[in-house]
Amino acid sequence: MANIVIVGMQWGDEGKGKIVDLLTEYADVVVRFQGGNNAGHTVVVGEEKIILHLVPSGALYPAKRCLIGNGVVVDPQVLLKEIEELQQRGHFLKDEQLLLSEDAHVIMPYHRRVDVAREKLKGEKKIGTTGRGIGPSYEDKIGREGIRVGDLLDPETFWEKLHTNLALKNHCLETCLHDQGVKMEEIFQEYSGYAERLGKYVSNTSVFIDREMRKGKHILFEGAQGTHLDVDHGTYPFVTSSNTVAGGACTGAGVGPTKISEVIGVSKAYTTRVGAGPFPTELKNEIGEGIRQRGGEFGATTGRPRRTGWLDIPVLRDAIRLSGITGIALTKMDVLSEFPTIQVCTAYRYQGQVLEEVPSALKALEECEPVYKELPGWGADLSGAKKIEDLPGPAQDYIRRVEELTETEVMLVSVGQRREETILRRNPFQKGPGLPKKA
Ligand code: GDP
Ligand code: IMO
Ligand code: MG
Repeated sequence: MANIVIVGMQWGDEGKGKIVDLLTEYADVVVRFQGGNNAGHTVVVGEEKIILHLVPSGALYPAKRCLIGNGVVVDPQVLLKEIEELQQRGHFLKDEQLLLSEDAHVIMPYHRRVDVAREKLKGEKKIGTTGRGIGPSYEDKIGREGIRVGDLLDPETFWEKLHTNLALKNHCLETCLHDQGVKMEEIFQEYSGYAERLGKYVSNTSVFIDREMRKGKHILFEGAQGTHLDVDHGTYPFVTSSNTVAGGACTGAGVGPTKISEVIGVSKAYTTRVGAGPFPTELKNEIGEGIRQRGGEFGATTGRPRRTGWLDIPVLRDAIRLSGITGIALTKMDVLSEFPTIQVCTAYRYQGQVLEEVPSALKALEECEPVYKELPGWGADLSGAKKIEDLPGPAQDYIRRVEELTETEVMLVSVGQRREETILRRNPFQKGPGLPKKA
């Protein structure tokens, strides 16, 4: 039995979808444990490209179960549309393939309205959210006002909770945010309709996972967003509203920490960020534009151009510490192929000091200057590489340097979008964690 957690090490979009799809071959169950449809996870198999927002990235394997855990916030309309689109493409045809936690919180129309209206009011100071209602939905969960999937299935409870909620939400929308309120009867009808269609998927997912674990099955936990968007440990307040670190897999799936075998962190060979907030290695020049174009760095959910920059080792060090990462999946190495030299940020300079970790205070992080180490580029196409030895020497050196600087093994290297464009140096479902090779 191996239970593996996959997390993003940066600010999201590291290629988690690709890695989860690849490793699902060796797993039995794939579980999303936090976030919502702010996530956009891309899976490319052959000529087919699928972007998943709520359904776990194991969806293309008909024999594997996909679970949406209690820690996820679910927009029922988006989930139903995603299932429908997958089915139209010939995937996800059996209902039993998907299980939806009865304890997951529901994103309601007023959550989306509040999210968008609040961002508008903030103007220059906005976070740059995806506008999907993620923050307001998690606020209701923590504020003990949320509506859960299980509540939707019971008309009486749903009516009562919706009634209580709308009194507050409409007041807030109309008075504070100068927006229109929403109508009780309309929402009740609409969401009761969704409940009818989703009912067949709803269950106690924590109990399901426990039973599978007892049978010795392999579980893959799929994180969304990235470490530095974590509500506790990220670049607050420019973060999302959930715990994106590996600990979130335990609370968001209903599993004890002793059951987790290994944590894999996904990182691009460079850095990107969507939305506002500090980004020490950002390149606002032609190199940054080159990375954006070559890497197709446009949001999978909102289509926004992603901000781009060099690889930031303090960002990775933090991720390793916060999630107990035992192996790195380094993606998009191919995107760096065109650059004659490549910079890696090994530390920050801040008020005369050298910092090896990301400072917590936003002001301090904004003042940090990256300390760069220049490395030679490789100027060659990597797409055909099947093993590390197939990579040009400077690309192998780059990987070795990442291992040394992070003191963590790079156990997977990705050199293209497709499943097969991957070098899997160590399969976490087949062996225990290894140590970085010495240079
Ligand atoms: P996620 O949110 O972490 O799942 O990542 P996204 O899907 O939002 O963004 C990653 C993008 O990079 C997607 O378009 C992937 O298809 C693509 N991708 C993943 N790995 C590689 C790689 O090694 N090389 C290239 N060129 N693209 C990759
Ligand atoms: P995946 O899973 C990249 C960012 C938004 C914004 C901040 C808060 O595809 O890696 P929210 O809508 O969550 O309240 O927005 O978080 N953000 C992401 N950035 N990848 C994601 O998901 C993201 N999900 C949210 O851009 O800056
Ligand atoms: Mg994404």
